Amino acid sequence: MDNQQLKTSEEKTINLYNKAYSENYRAYDEQFINEPSYPHFGGIIRKLSASFGRPISVLEVGCGTGRYFHTLQNTAHLTGIDISEHMLELARHPLKENEVNIPDIRLIAGSVYEYDFGNQQFDFIYCIGVLGEHVPLTPAMLVKLHQLLNDGGVLFTTVVNLDARKNLKRKLAETAYPMMPQRVKQVLDERWKSNYLTLQQLKTLMTASPFTNYDIENYISEDKGWKGGHYEVTARK
Ligand SMILES: C[S@@+](CC[C@H](N)C(=O)[O-])C[C@H]1O[C@@H](n2cnc3c(N)ncnc32)[C@H](O)[C@@H]1O
Repeated sequence: MDNQQLKTSEEKTINLYNKAYSENYRAYDEQFINEPSYPHFGGIIRKLSASFGRPISVLEVGCGTGRYFHTLQNTAHLTGIDISEHMLELARHPLKENEVNIPDIRLIAGSVYEYDFGNQQFDFIYCIGVLGEHVPLTPAMLVKLHQLLNDGGVLFTTVVNLDARKNLKRKLAETAYPMMPQRVKQVLDERWKSNYLTLQQLKTLMTASPFTNYDIENYISEDKGWKGGHYEVTARK
């Protein structure tokens, strides 16, 4: 994973989440509540945040429009960070705003890779549709997320399932890859460059990370807006 891939991914993300796209995203939040992923992800956030049984401090990485803020339980402090100022602006009035029951909300415009949280730590960090999707999930990011958690804290993050996205043509090309000439390999390497991860790549990253206690699940979304597979990592410090 090179630094250039991160920079390119971040630039693409900022261009994608412009004002018009962000407003569409926020408008779709209202329909999203009828899609299967809403109770799925909302349920996970509800359950994990409630599991502490006491007021907690939460960080959402790539919070976007704040689609899940209202599902957080027992949350005394919420920090949301997003690289798109337009998405973040809309998070000021998120979905089901009247159900958001959090006394202290801080929204930060910036990249989670670059932002310095200082000594701040959180009980619960969640991240949906960001790492291993718009931007890479790197070893350094896993170290940062681990440091950002309090002892006993929980991280929940999704990563797009690359295994589910490989068609037969790609699988055949991968089998033949070792026998291919170098210049063909270079073309394929470029074409296959992605932030998405296979299960094997995700397991390798997690094994090398400071997290020793984690589960990986596979979730297939049948939503009208986004069909596909996500790996879901729940990691405890
Ligand atoms: C698919 S949206 C998901 C938003 C929200 N998590 C949700 O589930 O509705 C991806 C979000 O990640 C943000 N993002 C991407 N890269 C980021 C980065 N490096 N730092 C912070 N936010 C980032 C984008 O601006 C966008 O708002």
